Amino acid sequence: MESALTARDRVGVQDFVLLENFTSEAAFIENLRKRFKENLIYTYIGSVLVSVNPYKELEIYSKQHMERYRGVSFYEVSPHLYAIADNSYRSLRMERKDQCILISGESGAGKTEATKKILQYYAVTCPASEQVETVKDRLLQSNPVLEAFGNAKTLRNDNSSRFGKYMDVQFDYKGAPVGGHILNYLLEKSRVVHQNHGERNFHIFYQLLEGAEDELLRRLGLEKNPQQYHYLVKGQCARVSSISDKNDWKIVRKALSVINFTDNEVEDLLSIVASVLHLGNVQFADDEQGNAQVTTENQIKYLARLLGVGGSLLREALTHKTIIAKGEELVSPLNLEQAAYARDALAKAVYGRTFSWLVNKINKSLAYKDAECPGRRSATVLGLLDIYGFEVFQHNSFEQFCINYCNEKLQQLFIELTLKSEQEEYESEGIAWEPVQYFNNKIICDLVEEKFKGIISILDEECLRPGDATDMTFLEKLEETVKNHPHFLTHKLADQKTRKSLDREQFRLLHYAGEVTYSVTGTSYTTVTPLPDIGTMCNSENPIINHCFERSELTDKRRPETAATQFKNSLSKLMEILMSKEPSYIRCIKPNDAKQAARFDEVLIRHQVKYLGLMENLRVRRAGFAYRRKYEIFLQRYKSLCSETWPMWEGRQHDGVAVLVKHLGYKPEEYKMGRSVISFFPNLWLKSIEGNVLDYMKLKSFLQYDTFWFLLSSAITIQSWWRGTQGRRKAAKKKRAVETIRRFIKGFIYRNYPRCSENEYFLDYIRYSFLMNLKRNVPKNVLDKSWPTPPPSLCEVSQLLRQLCMQNMVWSYCKRISPEWKQQLDQKVVASEIFKDKKDNYPQSVPRLFINTRLGTEEINPKVLQILKNETIKYAVPVVKYDRKGYKPRARHLLLTQSTIFVVEEAKIKQRIDYANLTGISVSSLSDSVFVLHVRCEDNKQKGDVVLQSDHVIETLTKIAMSADKVNNVNISQGSIKFTIGQGKEGIIDFTSGSELLIAKAKNGHLAVVSVFSVRGCRAWEGK
Ligand SMILES: Nc1ncnc2c1ncn2[C@@H]1O[C@H](COP(=O)(O)OP(=O)(O)O)[C@@H](O)[C@H]1O
Ligand SMILES: [Mg+2]
Repeated sequence: MESALTARDRVGVQDFVLLENFTSEAAFIENLRKRFKENLIYTYIGSVLVSVNPYKELEIYSKQHMERYRGVSFYEVSPHLYAIADNSYRSLRMERKDQCILISGESGAGKTEATKKILQYYAVTCPASEQVETVKDRLLQSNPVLEAFGNAKTLRNDNSSRFGKYMDVQFDYKGAPVGGHILNYLLEKSRVVHQNHGERNFHIFYQLLEGAEDELLRRLGLEKNPQQYHYLVKGQCARVSSISDKNDWKIVRKALSVINFTDNEVEDLLSIVASVLHLGNVQFADDEQGNAQVTTENQIKYLARLLGVGGSLLREALTHKTIIAKGEELVSPLNLEQAAYARDALAKAVYGRTFSWLVNKINKSLAYKDAECPGRRSATVLGLLDIYGFEVFQHNSFEQFCINYCNEKLQQLFIELTLKSEQEEYESEGIAWEPVQYFNNKIICDLVEEKFKGIISILDEECLRPGDATDMTFLEKLEETVKNHPHFLTHKLADQKTRKSLDREQFRLLHYAGEVTYSVTGTSYTTVTPLPDIGTMCNSENPIINHCFERSELTDKRRPETAATQFKNSLSKLMEILMSKEPSYIRCIKPNDAKQAARFDEVLIRHQVKYLGLMENLRVRRAGFAYRRKYEIFLQRYKSLCSETWPMWEGRQHDGVAVLVKHLGYKPEEYKMGRSVISFFPNLWLKSIEGNVLDYMKLKSFLQYDTFWFLLSSAITIQSWWRGTQGRRKAAKKKRAVETIRRFIKGFIYRNYPRCSENEYFLDYIRYSFLMNLKRNVPKNVLDKSWPTPPPSLCEVSQLLRQLCMQNMVWSYCKRISPEWKQQLDQKVVASEIFKDKKDNYPQSVPRLFINTRLGTEEINPKVLQILKNETIKYAVPVVKYDRKGYKPRARHLLLTQSTIFVVEEAKIKQRIDYANLTGISVSSLSDSVFVLHVRCEDNKQKGDVVLQSDHVIETLTKIAMSADKVNNVNISQGSIKFTIGQGKEGIIDFTSGSELLIAKAKNGHLAVVSVFSVRGCRAWEGK
């Protein structure tokens, strides 16, 4: 580590932030050159990594190197992309926040290599298991397959990616890579049918011809020689010294099986590759009418077999077009030029769609299947973006327009996430600083993508317009709409001088990275590529083709989106993905155009430094304070360097940091303290503190070694003693438990024997639990008749307890009774003794209270009161008296005094019966309220027995019986009652039940009393 640190310091600065003359581009490039010369290809700008393509193998990617960067802070080792990879991985694990690494730079700058190296780093350093190994293999092996189909040799790069790639690697909670997903962008399909001089078609074509065994080539109808195929000869460089197609073929074949391709799928895929080559060789000649005819029947034969479509259908599709006009299909023949165009369009479509299918297929094999919780998002994601760099060619077409637009968007993202957010962070921390001027390229992004006014919108509008849209009308419309835009120029809008450098069919955009002139002709902007008869392809027997050309396209009446809009939409989705993650940047620089090692082309590099915005990036880093640490983290890491902060700072974090930096000898102008972070200028101090910390830690660990072992063995002794004690306690407890259970079981067996040593524990337990149960469930009032069932041995005790309990409850109840209530109860008891179960309407009287008197003194005639003045009226009640002869009913009052019963009519006392003369009371057993007071006959003053009726018969009779002490003289008769009328004569009352109450003289001269039936039911109910 020591040597790594010194090597890093020896050549230039390892971080541009440390550059003294940081505003000078020359100093910047000089630093790059110095380091590049020494094979130090990586340099930081703060946390952004600048990488220069060495164009030679360097010994810095070994397993030992990977280990050196694992879990180590940025400052401790020399700059490397492994440090970026490790830093992102650590943030992902510790903060569980999704990450992305954005790798940018122009074609050939080393983006794809960097992506591969980062993937290898994860494959080696992340935790593994059998399942993870498969995923790692697939992640790594997807690369050669994608490169075979999506990469090609260009003038700038022998292995140039001709598509944009964003790859997500998913990590589980243990930090192991468990899945992945790839998004692809805009494959350069035009390469399938045409290559510039010195360039090649996609690698797979050459690999197949060079590497495949003869039998396979025979099946595909191919010859080994690439010169035989029109689509492979345009660039005139089928063989490239740096590429071994034969070896690559083997790698691709192996990789295909790793990523789950079956033999059949491989055969289908290669059939499509072969069919593209055959398509390129399809030739046409015109007949007398000038219509194109296929002249290469052999090709059609192979194509029909490989694509699984009918030969004649294919021939028809290549030489005719179908137009739908007013709902009718019109088929018209094509001329030579149109037929060639249709053939090429088919080749591009077949290849392009197969490529997308391939990406999908790879995604399926990489998909993360969370076996434990399917459906839950348990993985965190690290994205790697390897997308085409800024491109400026002699002739720039639609593809360059899209590529450069993409780079504008990425620059926008970079500005948003680094430059702008950095400045905002200073503001929110309250750190004073000078704002840095940087060019915000939003204006160019808007020029391309703004709704209604942007280039893409105008293009869409032009395509939708009825009539034939041409490239020139598009250019005119563009001139009209965006003519005043400072970043847009055309021949017409330019001044005299610039006009010379612009053709009439060109427009120029002033990109943030420089000017690019685009031609609108050649590769058409406005045509929405017409597909030669999708119907033919839908019926293909080749499953891949069948999948790629869906029948729904035929029926979909909507106009397909233009390629530009499709690209714009996919880009905006990509931006969303990237925005949701924490980004890290790798900015790749290409040192020369000749792909040579050790050649440092200053002009080329200056241009890249400019358009990668590296100087601006550096200025922002320097304008602020390049190193920032949260107080907490700073204190934690460096507290050991100051005796006041070691081992623990008790006060505010802010104060602790202030003490620490002062102790370390920082000058006030070298750092700034914000609200929660300390920021400081980069200088040698930082390095020396890091060095100090490391040395100190080494020393500390050495000194602590013995103490550590002593403490460890002490801890083990204490632990073992304590565990022993705990174990013994547990065992004793278990033993006691076993004994208790055994005694209980034995006691249960002997439970019915007299008390003995075998059952005493059980019986005690039973007694205890019965008494405890009784305590909880003892009855609360006299009416509560519940009582827990006692065990046989406690029946007697239980009985005694129950009586005691009842007595207790009765006693406490009686204590609470008032004198009035006692009197009431006495009367009720007497009534019960006389009438209970004997008279039918008794039950109705039970719930009604007996009233002291039913007539107040104000209701009794004053004359009567005067007559009775010496006697107190104890009870008075209205009654009906029945004449002795005619049984006429007469309303009377019945008054009871101390010694006499009075029957009173108004002011007149009609009859007076002394209690002594009352011989008895008769009443029926039915529910009527008629009763007879029998009077002694010898008393001549008396007129005979009295027949009365009271609405409160039970109450009235109870009162009379009690007052006259005749409780035992109440006679309850079943059928009839005889009574004396006077002078020895007798009367009879017949009691019967009926449906209606009736009291009247019957024909036999008796008094008939009919009482109502239902009372019997009431009595029956009371019995229950
Ligand atoms: N770190 C590196 N070490 C050695 N050679 C490299 C490195 N990076 C790039 N190269 C070389 O440069 C070539 C182009 O790199 P590549 O990653 O394909 O560029 P890009 O993807 O940016 O177009 C590679 O084929 C390789 O030969
Ligand atoms: Mg690449």
